[in-house]
This record gives sequence, C-alpha cells and structure tokens, in this order.
Amino acid sequence: MNPSLLDQLPPPLPAEQIIALNKPKADLHTHRAYSWNGWEFDVPPGVFIPGATSRMIHQRVLDDDIDVRGRVYAAMGVGLGVEAIVAGLRGAARVHALDVHPTSVAVTEAGYHRIVGTDGPTEFLPRVGDLFEALPDGTRLDTVTFNPPAVSRPVSDDPDIVRNVCAGTSVTDAFFTQLAERDLLAPGGEVYFVASNTADLRHIIGHATTVGFTANVHHLHDWEDGVLTYLFRLTREPGTTTGTDPAIEAVTSGEDTR
Ligand SMILES: C[S@@+](CC[C@H](N)C(=O)[O-])C[C@H]1O[C@@H](n2cnc3c(N)ncnc32)[C@H](O)[C@@H]1O
Repeated sequence: MNPSLLDQLPPPLPAEQIIALNKPKADLHTHRAYSWNGWEFDVPPGVFIPGATSRMIHQRVLDDDIDVRGRVYAAMGVGLGVEAIVAGLRGAARVHALDVHPTSVAVTEAGYHRIVGTDGPTEFLPRVGDLFEALPDGTRLDTVTFNPPAVSRPVSDDPDIVRNVCAGTSVTDAFFTQLAERDLLAPGGEVYFVASNTADLRHIIGHATTVGFTANVHHLHDWEDGVLTYLFRLTREPGTTTGTDPAIEAVTSGEDTR
C-alpha cells in the first residue's frame, strides 16, 4: 500500500484554463450524429456526445480490460449508451443502464435493442434516477463505470451542460457515498472512474477512500495540453467501515501511465 497517491494527484488546473478547455458547445440542444466501432448513432438534444475520455472506458469494455463478461454491470451516467451496448455484446450477465436524464436512458434503450438485440442472454435494465436511487436495496454490482460531470468550475449555467460536464464534487461524493452506504459492490467488485485535473482529484479520491474504497490508477493519459486524465480502479469489500485512514495504492498500468 502506498498512501502517497493523494499527494501525487495534481491539483485542479487554473480556473481560466478549465473554463477555456470546456467551452460549452452551442449544439447540445440539437440533434447530432456520432459514430464509433462501425455503429452510427443519432444523439438527441441534451444527450452527452461521447468524447475521447468516454472512449477510454468504451474501448476497455470492448477489449475486456474492463471485464464485464458474466458479471453484473452498472453503467452510471450512461448518456448515449455506448458502454451499456458494448457490455451487452461482451456478455455481461446483467446491465444496469443508469442516468438522471430520461432522454439519455431512452436513447440508450433504443441503441441497445438496435445493436445488441432483444433476445440475448444479457438482462438489460435501463433506469432513470439520481445516481443509484433506482436500484432496489440488495442489488450487488460486480463492475461499475462512471465518466462523471466532475469539472470543478461552472463552465455554464445551462442545467444540461452542468449535468453533463460540471456538477463537480457533489455528484462524485454522492456516487461513492451511496455505493458504500448501500453496500452495492459485490465481493471482488470494481469501480472504474475517469476524471482529469479539470476536476478536484484529491477531493474526489480522498472522499472515496474515506468511505472505504482502495484506489489505484489503472491508466493515465497525458493530452499534452496540461490535462491529465486518470482512469481509477477502486475496490471496496462489502461491510467495510468508513474511516479517515485512506487505503490508497499507486499501482499503475497502461502504456502511457506516468
Ligand atoms: C460526461 S457524461 C458521460 C456520458 C457517457 N457515459 C459517456 O461517457 O459518453 C455524464 C453523464 O452523467 C449523467 N449524470 C449527471 N448527473 C447524474 C446523476 N446525479 N445521476 C445519474 N446520472 C447523472 C449525465 O446525464 C450524463 O449522461
């Protein structure tokens, strides 16, 4: 165990840089198109269009680096639904596709049925709700992914942009708190959580460890414009009590991990 990961995480970039990097696109309230892996998507107004950070998760689910095969998987903040679709194709036992935004859940459901089909072995459960509230008590998840709206500065006052981009630590804190308080992770379960130094990484990972998670850096990508994006892998054994002694490991993997 290396308790220095928190100290190694970079502080948030200067506010003006974060705001410049995340200039809201004028087209969020329009119909857009997205293609990836040979699939074409119509992206309805308000739905987040996947970017390179999204694909850090999508590609890894496709490649089984984030292994969902035979597992109960929750795609938190599923947006357009790509990770849920890939998980269905890779053979997850069950896919919970979760988002607070009803249009995102609806477009995920349509895309899933179009690409994965309706009669495969995977149980597909799309649900609208704030974080995990739509999951019944007693749910146990083997794998959870989240590309959260963690940007630490308000880059817009448009509620759809805030929901997609910059809700900040209120949503990330609640995410880890709910997982811990409701004991939603199965034994051996893992959370893949992606965020950059446009977010307050020390706060986010500090909170996760306070509620009992062990954090590793699974992959680190340097975009060479000052932005460092971390894909964290976090684990927490059921019944772990919350505390203030962070259990953090600076284990890294991936070819451009630093
Ligand atoms: C950055 S987007 C990621 C979308 C998609 N997973 C991807 O990577 O392309 C964040 C997503 O989180 C959803 N979201 C924001 N706050 C949420 C909450 N409290 N509960 C559930 N989903 C939330 C947004 O609606 C949005 O779809």
